[in-house]
Amino acid sequence: MGRRRPIVVRPDALLKGGHGGDRLRGTALPASTMNARTLLRLFAFVSFGLAHAASAQGLTPEQMQSAESDYQRYCALCHGADRQGHVNDHAPSLRSRSLLETGFPMVLREAISYGRPGTPMGGYLDEVGGPMTRDQIRNLAHWLATVAEARPFPLGAAPVQGDVAEGAKLYRKNCAGCHGGKGEGGTGTALGNAAMLALTPDAFLRHAIANGRDGTPMPAFLGKLTDPQIDSLTAFLRSRASGWEQRTPVLAEPPPLDRIVLNPDAAEPEFTLRDGLYVSAAELDRELKAGKKMVLLDTRVTSMWQMAHIAGAVPAPYYASREEVMASLPTDGTWIVAYCECPRAAAESVVTRLRASGLQNTAVLYEGIQGWISLGYPVAAGRAEGGADTHDHAH
Ligand code: HEC
Ligand code: HEC
Repeated sequence: MGRRRPIVVRPDALLKGGHGGDRLRGTALPASTMNARTLLRLFAFVSFGLAHAASAQGLTPEQMQSAESDYQRYCALCHGADRQGHVNDHAPSLRSRSLLETGFPMVLREAISYGRPGTPMGGYLDEVGGPMTRDQIRNLAHWLATVAEARPFPLGAAPVQGDVAEGAKLYRKNCAGCHGGKGEGGTGTALGNAAMLALTPDAFLRHAIANGRDGTPMPAFLGKLTDPQIDSLTAFLRSRASGWEQRTPVLAEPPPLDRIVLNPDAAEPEFTLRDGLYVSAAELDRELKAGKKMVLLDTRVTSMWQMAHIAGAVPAPYYASREEVMASLPTDGTWIVAYCECPRAAAESVVTRLRASGLQNTAVLYEGIQGWISLGYPVAAGRAEGGADTHDHAH
């Protein structure tokens, strides 16, 4: 990670879901109305539509070609030359529309960038030691959706509520045979994988269970199980976010603001900031393990904090400055480290505001939370019962 690059704040990195939904739709006009003028208009509409479709997919023919050659070079070994999956290591299909339509763009980009630590799926982003740039990975995700003619649609971000104990029973009966008794994977993917669970919304998991993955061994359970049973399975999987052996999940309260400073009586951390702003995951982990005094701000949307966060972090989402959090920040020079998953844009905007108000001992986690997870550093799950207390306030 010796590389320095200018950091560009990309708005699309902040907005999950983004592009991909809008493609050219067929238009049919009744023949009787087809005079020269309508034809002209139709032509104008179609050529506008084509230009629009091209920009929505965002890849030039050259980019399509180089994405394909990246695919053949880095991915075909396991996922297959035709993206069919299961060539090596039970790598899933990368042409299943069920996956592409619900996973494009962020689940795909995050899986390719950061991998699924503990499985054969590695991280391909240069920042975590991989061979690809962020742009190459973005193009590859676009290419996968485009060649499969997927029509991605947005999934809700709302958590799925269900009966975890029932979900556990249903899992043993219907799923463990393929996905492993502890979610370690087999024919099916590793459903207990911390990175997968931290970076996929409930609705993505639920869609996979209900609709299956077309063209793969993953069956659709819609019709075989009831809707509440599918909810319970989803809730059960989510509850494993910080380890298979977990208790009942509940929405956790963020740490109380009077305990916002971790290890208040300990020494200050020693950070060497890159470009005067960024702290590396390795340094942050070292100083946290050494029990140093600091504040951690999770600047993502709060539902992400619930899924998984660095232990001790307080939610302070980028879109709302959460005045009471800001008002509780110590002004005595205590270090404040912010992180997000973009990997830096949201945290940077929060730190810029803090610095403008005079808090200079502030930093942004360079690798972001996905980098943190994929490098194997520990996370806590907001929704694990007792999680906030047992993990967040270990001091
Ligand atoms: C050494 C084998 C291997 C290689 C090479 C590999 N993968 Fe994977 N990939 C896997 C396995 C195995 C999984 C499933 C991991 C799990 O159990 O969660 C996976 C999962 C994924 C997923 C998540 C799919 C889902 O259902 O959530 C995506 C996306 C993906 N890989 C894309 C790629 C791309 C793109 C490349 C090339 C840049 C690549 N992989 C290279 C083995 C591989
Ligand atoms: C016959 C084997 C099989 C059974 C039974 C099965 N699965 Fe799967 N499942 C798979 C395979 C294989 C995949 C990966 C799709 C692929 O091959 O491309 C998968 C994918 C998934 C995914 C998507 C994971 C991701 O990273 O995108 C979820 C979620 C899932 N399964 C949940 C379940 C649940 C819950 C059950 C039980 C109700 C279940 N599966 C039963 C084989 C199975």
